[in-house]
Amino acid sequence: MLPKYYEYYNPVKINAGEEALETIPFELNLLSAKRPILITDKGIVGAGLLKIVLNSFADSELVVGAVFDETPTDSSLETVNQIVKIYKEQKCDSIIAVGGGSVIDTGKGVNIVVSEGTDDIRQFMGADRLKAPQKPLIVVPTTSGTGSEVTLVAVISDNKNNIKLPFTSNLLLPKVAILDTRMTLSLPAKITAATGMDALTHAIEAYTCLQKNPLSDAHAFMAIKLISENLIKTVKNGKDKKARFALANGSLMAGAAFSNSMVGAVHAIGHACGGVAHIPHGVAMSILLPHVMKFNMDVLEDLYGELLLPLAGAEVYAKTFAAQRANKAVRTIEKMRIELNQLAGLANTLSDAGVKKEQFESIAVKALDDGAMLPNPKNLTKSDVITILEEAF
Ligand SMILES: [Fe+2]
Repeated sequence: MLPKYYEYYNPVKINAGEEALETIPFELNLLSAKRPILITDKGIVGAGLLKIVLNSFADSELVVGAVFDETPTDSSLETVNQIVKIYKEQKCDSIIAVGGGSVIDTGKGVNIVVSEGTDDIRQFMGADRLKAPQKPLIVVPTTSGTGSEVTLVAVISDNKNNIKLPFTSNLLLPKVAILDTRMTLSLPAKITAATGMDALTHAIEAYTCLQKNPLSDAHAFMAIKLISENLIKTVKNGKDKKARFALANGSLMAGAAFSNSMVGAVHAIGHACGGVAHIPHGVAMSILLPHVMKFNMDVLEDLYGELLLPLAGAEVYAKTFAAQRANKAVRTIEKMRIELNQLAGLANTLSDAGVKKEQFESIAVKALDDGAMLPNPKNLTKSDVITILEEAF
């Protein structure tokens, strides 16, 4: 059923394919940018990926104004301020973020500070607080999971106060996202598995949450197909270029979907597991997804049933009676997780991931307070969250 009203916005230009990186100088020219700062991390440099990006400037007259390669695993206020200082000293006029979620969020954070002309990013925290047009931001993802290259969200950690600062604004959307096959080829199997399950969760929650709409549905549906068909393949053989590229597209489409609908209880509980027990986001998503689907089953049976088609393919879908499709969809995801556990050691239970039972109470309290809980189509009480945690333990 169509919503009575919805909005969909995604102006990010996508350049995708082999050697897509070579388009960066052209895109910067179009954006009238001449001196970008390149933000990345040590892992990207170590894997030889920074060199590939810098090589794309070889035949151009553009100059990379500065390279910052010390972005930590969790983007932080200190890092943002450090990069802003370099950006100003080197007279940069644009930003290229090359990395995973933390690097991309850091790039968005730097952009807020330099574009708004502020020295305190915290005043822009929350929804739609940005006012100034942002500097050109080009994003090159090196994982297939967060979808941050096409989302309006950034999360920056305030380590002094031990909180995460969320920023959402259409102005935060990058100008260009570059999916280049070379950038994910060396990603380790376990990270490929975890980030892929995060992307799958984005798509499934986008397709089933209260703010779903026909355009987010279209992106989510195709994302689920691309991820289901290619995640195991990629984990088995990380050098499979076709599968890697399909996965990168799936992750991007899942990002476009949830950036224009929302996520749901898997993310709310997963964020809380991350905050309290410090388990990686993708691992939490992978563990919790089927358990939350079972909890939501009575209100989402029809939609989950539809998702059996992209999850398991036309033949399985056609052979399964309509009344059994939703349960089969959940079983398909469980099977995928078991395989990812065997192939890459991805944790399948909260206990394996290092969560303690004593932490359930604070996880549940935090989860109920998480914004992602609001668009979940079924209300959860504290005892519902604890039951889900016990089942996933
Ligand atoms: Fe996520």
